[in-house]
Amino acid sequence: DSVGVYDFIIVGGGTAGLVIANRLSEDTDTSVAIIEAGDLVFNNKNVSDVDGYGLAFGTAIDWQYESVPQAYAGNKSQTMRAGKALGGTSTINGMAYLRAQAAQIDAWEHLGNDGWNWKSLLPYYKQSEHFQLPTAEQCLAGAAYDIGVHGTTGYLKTGWNNGLLGENVTSLINATYTSTGLPYIQEPNGGSMRGFTRYPATVDRELNVREDAGRAYYLPVQNRTNLHLYTNSFVQRMTWDGASKNSTPRVDGVQFTDASGKQKTISAKKEVILSAGALRSPLILELSGIGNSAILQQHGIDVKVDLPTVGENLQDQTTGAGAYSSNTSFSGTADYVGYFSVADIFGNDTCDFNSTVRGSILQYATSVVEASNGVLDQKVMEKLFMIHYDLIFKDQIPISEILVTPGQDRMDFSYWGLLPFSRGSIHIQSNDSTTPAAINPNYFQLDYDLKQQIGTAKTVRKLAGSDALCEVVTGELSPGLQSVPLNASDDVWAKAVKAGYRSNYHYISTAAMMAQDLGGVVDTNLSVYGVDNVRVVDASVIPFQVCGHLTATIYAIAERAADAIKQRYY
Ligand code: FDA
Repeated sequence: DSVGVYDFIIVGGGTAGLVIANRLSEDTDTSVAIIEAGDLVFNNKNVSDVDGYGLAFGTAIDWQYESVPQAYAGNKSQTMRAGKALGGTSTINGMAYLRAQAAQIDAWEHLGNDGWNWKSLLPYYKQSEHFQLPTAEQCLAGAAYDIGVHGTTGYLKTGWNNGLLGENVTSLINATYTSTGLPYIQEPNGGSMRGFTRYPATVDRELNVREDAGRAYYLPVQNRTNLHLYTNSFVQRMTWDGASKNSTPRVDGVQFTDASGKQKTISAKKEVILSAGALRSPLILELSGIGNSAILQQHGIDVKVDLPTVGENLQDQTTGAGAYSSNTSFSGTADYVGYFSVADIFGNDTCDFNSTVRGSILQYATSVVEASNGVLDQKVMEKLFMIHYDLIFKDQIPISEILVTPGQDRMDFSYWGLLPFSRGSIHIQSNDSTTPAAINPNYFQLDYDLKQQIGTAKTVRKLAGSDALCEVVTGELSPGLQSVPLNASDDVWAKAVKAGYRSNYHYISTAAMMAQDLGGVVDTNLSVYGVDNVRVVDASVIPFQVCGHLTATIYAIAERAADAIKQRYY
């Protein structure tokens, strides 16, 4: 039965979806519905606790999707976490607010995305942001910034947590990172990220709670009568406008199961915006008849738009850990990060590594094309990989991130490669929307990814063994000298890296914004190719990995998408 007619329906009240909902409903004559599978979590301590990272994992607000067994990493599957709540994954994430390197956003323009570059995205980063200046004490503890790149009137509060680890610890960690030749940088969010710094978080410092998308973008506008929120409501598919005389297919609504378990349909007069996340939006496209016709037909779905790359190009990163015992106990928030370039990680071996990778591009493209069953194109992948290669070796943008958390009698490092080449996919396995998808990130499919991760693991050991830390660090707990002796071969390191990794939870590109002949799914306005009135606005559209963490960039993309939508209708 029909329960509502709206101008816009937003599927997924998550990080991106709530930005769109807020901006589109600014106009009181425009009606907007948000359909969110999860519930309100404003009173959930696992969400609000600023030191509660990980508490929500495995609870009802974690979708905890499972990947297929990973063929290049011991055939183990991986848990792919994502938030199921108003606010989406921003309710369970690590709260880091870190954007991207300018050159990598500029590279989007070379993928057929005219007008998408760092310069044009920066105003949207700023528009989304309400930067809280650090207190005097936080400044002493190393919180630094360039106000020119921050916004102060946006919805999203950013800044440093109360209870930061203090000045002495910062000096120690700074000395540790800079001993490897990495410079200290004051501002990681201005487009130039290489260096060691103390990064800001998405936090409401006054209330001392996490700043998630619900709190930032929904709470302040929840009383708008033209904004309707359906919670605990699971969208199955979009419905098609059979009466449309338009030659391009149009959708006219969505089907979902409501909070009481009833089947509902609501209508969209203008558009449906999919913001269900990179591990959901492509599935909703497929279930609606937009995707690879071979896959759709296999599951008995009518093909409305044959768009074979829906669900392809899935990219994630892999996280590793290094743990050390310490004779000192630290308590307080650690927001210490180092961003390393290829030369920082590989030193004198950078030239050799460069030649090896350059010589492997054709093979990388071939492997990825084969893994896609020929959906991706050899020449296109060579082109994309050359852009990727140039970012790493010519622009020397950061390739590795290393975080350190000084804790109780220990010091923990976590690290990941920022720019893996491997590409996977996500597809439906049935026309029943509740059947889990086949999610295959193809971790370590290509040897750059493994070599990069090994190089970064070795750098972690170097940091832990630096002169700066020698009075504090007393031994290596993990990976441990037993399993990975000093001077261990790369084969030994490879085993340890593959045995101990997890998903970095930075899934992107499953409905990539690119020219259609490069395999794009959405155009520069984030409209799905071949459909009149469907957009995807979430991590799915990000075509290449970013060096920062994802939300900062997703908020900016969503602000920009809202402008694009307004331009068409307002
Ligand atoms: P998001 O997941 O936010 O929103 C999708 C929404 O759609 C969800 O609310 C979901 O419930 C809903 N939905 C899905 N299917 C639906 C359906 N069929 N019907 C209705 N609703 C549906 N980033 C960062 O910037 N800093 C960090 O520190 C971290 N750390 C981190 C840790 C962990 C554990 C994770 C999992 C992720 C991070 N990230 C991160 C990544 C970042 O949080 C993430 O990429 C974005 O929040 C994703 O935003 P989206 O808008 O793409 O989807």
